Amino acid sequence: MDFGIVYHLIYLLAFTSASCPSGSKFYQARGLCFKLFTVSKNYTEADIACKDKGGILARIKDGAIQNFTEDKYAGKYFWIGLEDDDNDGVYMWADNSSAMYNNWQTTPPSGRCARYTKSGLWIAELCSEILWFLCELPKGPNKWNFLPSINNHRSH
Ligand SMILES: *[C@@H]1O[C@H](CO)[C@@H](O)[C@H](O)[C@H]1NC(C)=O
Ligand SMILES: *[C@@H]1O[C@H](CO)[C@@H](O)[C@H](O)[C@H]1NC(C)=O
Ligand SMILES: *[C@@H]1O[C@H](CO)[C@@H](O)[C@H](O)[C@H]1NC(C)=O
Repeated sequence: MDFGIVYHLIYLLAFTSASCPSGSKFYQARGLCFKLFTVSKNYTEADIACKDKGGILARIKDGAIQNFTEDKYAGKYFWIGLEDDDNDGVYMWADNSSAMYNNWQTTPPSGRCARYTKSGLWIAELCSEILWFLCELPKGPNKWNFLPSINNHRSH
């Protein structure tokens, strides 16, 4: 028995994917845990539910995260953390950072809250719709730290 290998396996389980909350998917390239909640809530309540768990509604800030979530959640639809909260046509992530990347199905979007479609494209939906939602969650107890949203807060 090679205890070195066993040790490494235990280490990997303890400190990588296994340290994501149960039911979540680990995106190793970014050290992020994503969990699809299959209870249905409107956008506001979904936002609160993610925060209650120490997380945030999923921020899909680039094509790599898009591809990861598409791979894991194809064929489902759910809220992501992108909203035009003051109805000025500018969509911001749930951490108030600017949406530099987007994957909209329609241009321009018609509602104020973004959801994933089954194809992985996003549509802007009425925020009152009741849907599943995708959270980014902390990797382990008290391990969560948000990437700061540098220099791109709304200026009002
Ligand atoms: C995402 O997937 C598409 C289609 O497979 C690929 O063309 C693109 O390069 C990928 N983007 C990233 C950032 O990995
Ligand atoms: C985003 O900005 C709003 C007000 O514009 C504020 O209420 C909210 O707490 C901010 N959220 C974060 C995560 O900074
Ligand atoms: C979401 O539901 C809550 C609780 O019913 C309600 O207070 C809130 O106004 C709703 N938000 C939206 C955007 O519909």
